[in-house]
Amino acid sequence: MDASAGMDPSAGMDATAGMDASAGPRTIDWDAGAIVTVDQVALPHEHRMLRLGTVDQLIDAIQRLAIRGAPALGAAGALGVALSAHLHADDPEAVRIDADRIAAARPTAANLAWGVQRVLDRLPEGADAVLAEARAVLAEDERANREASRRAAELVLELCSRRPLRVLTHCNTGRLATVAWGTALGAVRHLAAAGQLDYVLADETRPLLQGARLTAYELAEAGIRYRVCPDSAAATAMAQGLVDCVLVGADRIAANGDVANKIGTFPVALAAARHGIPFVVVAPESTLDLSLPDGSGIVIEHRDPAEVTHFDGQPVTPAGAGAFNPAFDVTPADLITAIVTETRIYRAP
Ligand code: MRU
Repeated sequence: MDASAGMDPSAGMDATAGMDASAGPRTIDWDAGAIVTVDQVALPHEHRMLRLGTVDQLIDAIQRLAIRGAPALGAAGALGVALSAHLHADDPEAVRIDADRIAAARPTAANLAWGVQRVLDRLPEGADAVLAEARAVLAEDERANREASRRAAELVLELCSRRPLRVLTHCNTGRLATVAWGTALGAVRHLAAAGQLDYVLADETRPLLQGARLTAYELAEAGIRYRVCPDSAAATAMAQGLVDCVLVGADRIAANGDVANKIGTFPVALAAARHGIPFVVVAPESTLDLSLPDGSGIVIEHRDPAEVTHFDGQPVTPAGAGAFNPAFDVTPADLITAIVTETRIYRAP
């Protein structure tokens, strides 16, 4: 990856300066000895909060995607170690075992193990130091996402000449996927607040519908014009001239700029390249995994075939049908126009 030193970080400032639409309440936080979080499985029909008082409850919430999205998983990992440290104040070994279990709950998002490790380093100082570090992770996540998304909004205003902009996005990268505000959807918020956004096409995001359920919920909440788009219609929307740029998030970014993100991102990138449409990834630095030279080393989570063979609990396939159900794919760096973090803009050489 090449951090593009030549880019002017102030370009586009006039268009987006001073805007600050509300990010809403925090998606995940610490409250009096427990982790409190929005139950993302219940949305959009029910807004339910979960109170997680054990590490087992946290791991269950992560695995059934009640907590999801890479930055939110980083916060969950940090808070999970803080929770364990408070439950086992005199037993650091028990905390280390819990930390390993939390970090392994989902393998693809770099932020989960990153959040766990970052606060675990404070364990020798005691439970309160671990909690203080976890709180710092949460505060930094919100700041990082606001800054990365502001930079991304400026970049797409440079890259795309049409006004107002029509953006396509995949999965959910908003406040629900982070502690607050969001990454790619945070950039959408910036563009909307600056009056530079026409509409969003939100890929439904098969099979768990993070786009149809969560991105649509957040866009409706923010009063931003949108339509939900079957994943399979994204290329057609581009071919019909309905998309000016693609904004997505990331779960893990390798050193060469290959990006793991929600399954279906790679075909969107292929279609965008075919149509000459900028494809921009927005993520905090904590999503970078520079230990991996390229995306071939990224561990891809495979999920329960029932997520594909069933819809809303009802079977849609003949009994006994198997399913290929990777939760993520890897988009090669050469299909990515730019990766924007809170500190840098990377462009493929
Ligand atoms: O399986 P999920 O819902 O956790 O997958 C989430 C994604 O792929 C997001 O695009 C990614 O984590 C970035 S969120 C800012």
